[in-house]
Amino acid sequence: MFVLVNLKTYPCDPVAVAEAVRDVNEDTDARVAVAPQATHIERVAETGAETWAQHVDPIEHGSNTGHTIAESVADAGAIGTLINHSEQRRKLADIDGAVQAAQRADLETVVCANNPAQIGAAAALGPDAVAVEPPALIGTGTPVSQADPDIVEDAVEAAENVDSDVSVLCGAGISTGDDVVAAGDLGAEGVLLASGVAKADDPQAALEDLVEPL
Ligand code: G3P
Repeated sequence: MFVLVNLKTYPCDPVAVAEAVRDVNEDTDARVAVAPQATHIERVAETGAETWAQHVDPIEHGSNTGHTIAESVADAGAIGTLINHSEQRRKLADIDGAVQAAQRADLETVVCANNPAQIGAAAALGPDAVAVEPPALIGTGTPVSQADPDIVEDAVEAAENVDSDVSVLCGAGISTGDDVVAAGDLGAEGVLLASGVAKADDPQAALEDLVEPL
């Protein structure tokens, strides 16, 4: 299973969380990675943790003030990027452009979507993975795998119908190893989570709990 920890703009110490991600990753068969804010990517990548960007824009080098270009996050040490997170929604054409920009910079891609219909559209853009996250469950601590298992199974089916090479992650409310196992049982190949680690008193213990059953 792939466990991708999105730090959003939570006021946690990104380097401390990254060190915990690196250490936990070494002791598990799971793949554990962290997505810090863009300005923290370089320091986080220097820890040796697998580092992802939270977003890239559909742009090339040039006059794009305030944008995030894929080449720069790759230069800073990211190996992948989220695209179209629920808190960073984009139009379909821009999601397509961001996937292409990321691929140009050799970044892995996870395109997020609200529901199975959007997952099908996202999968058609050719990312490495898609992630289904019902917005209403984000940050609630109620895991999508329990509150809405059908949405995960339907997302897996929707992606499979479009392109069986695209992996499916699920996210929202995931915070325990049981939640991760439940996501796997529904057909997801990984989970995307944030508050369960970024807001934990002890992020390392939270990470250890997440991967313990894997
Ligand atoms: O990117 C992960 C996310 O949106 C889910 O957040 O806090 O419910 O794990 P959370």
